[in-house]
Amino acid sequence: MTASVAIRPGVFDDRAGIEALYPDAFPDEDLLPVVRQLLDMRSGVLSLVAVDGEAIVGHVIFTDCGLSDADARLALLGPLGVVSARHGKGIGSALVREGHERLRQAGITHVFVLGDPAYYGRFGFAAETGVAPPFELPVSWRDAWQSLALDNAAKPPRGTLSVPEPWNDRALWAP
Ligand SMILES: CC(C)(COP(=O)(O)OP(=O)(O)OC[C@H]1O[C@@H](n2cnc3c(N)ncnc32)[C@H](O)[C@@H]1OP(=O)(O)O)[C@@H](O)C(=O)NCCC(=O)NCCS
Repeated sequence: MTASVAIRPGVFDDRAGIEALYPDAFPDEDLLPVVRQLLDMRSGVLSLVAVDGEAIVGHVIFTDCGLSDADARLALLGPLGVVSARHGKGIGSALVREGHERLRQAGITHVFVLGDPAYYGRFGFAAETGVAPPFELPVSWRDAWQSLALDNAAKPPRGTLSVPEPWNDRALWAP
């Protein structure tokens, strides 16, 4: 990552910069509705921005989750986006790693993601089979459902991931 980029928690004034980033990073997908709903949540959301001076060049959200039938301190990673002009410079990796460190300190034991294993594998994410996503995934997406243990001493969770309302939308879990 370039030395001029810093990672910090997002604040209210970052909203316009965050909202400008997503159509650029995801030209074929409209993630703004879910991003806005997540940022409107009063708690249970970790929003981190990558900033270069005044410019927001990357953003990630981690959302607190649980299990449908047991106590667990889990999180869902997503969305993650970096402005297209700055891809491949380590910004996405820095956002993910900073998020994991903050979640670990907060007592979250496992992080889940629905994403490309070729990318998330570099952080240690591996295919998840013990915890089901909130909606059944199409067969072609099953490899994309992954998790990472932040606390290796924690018992592996089993069950179905329980997500807050913005993620409780089947359309977000299917092509
Ligand atoms: C995916 C994304 C967040 C990565 O951020 P980034 O800052 O470009 O990534 P980093 O610089 O940390 O890592 C770059 C590495 O990841 C690889 N990479 C990026 N996207 C990848 C993908 N979808 N699959 C496999 N590898 C990927 C790059 O080839 C590069 O590899 P290298 O280190 O071997 O050269 C960014 O490319 C992006 O915003 N893409 C569009 C939105 C998106 O797809 N988000 C992820 C949703 S699951």
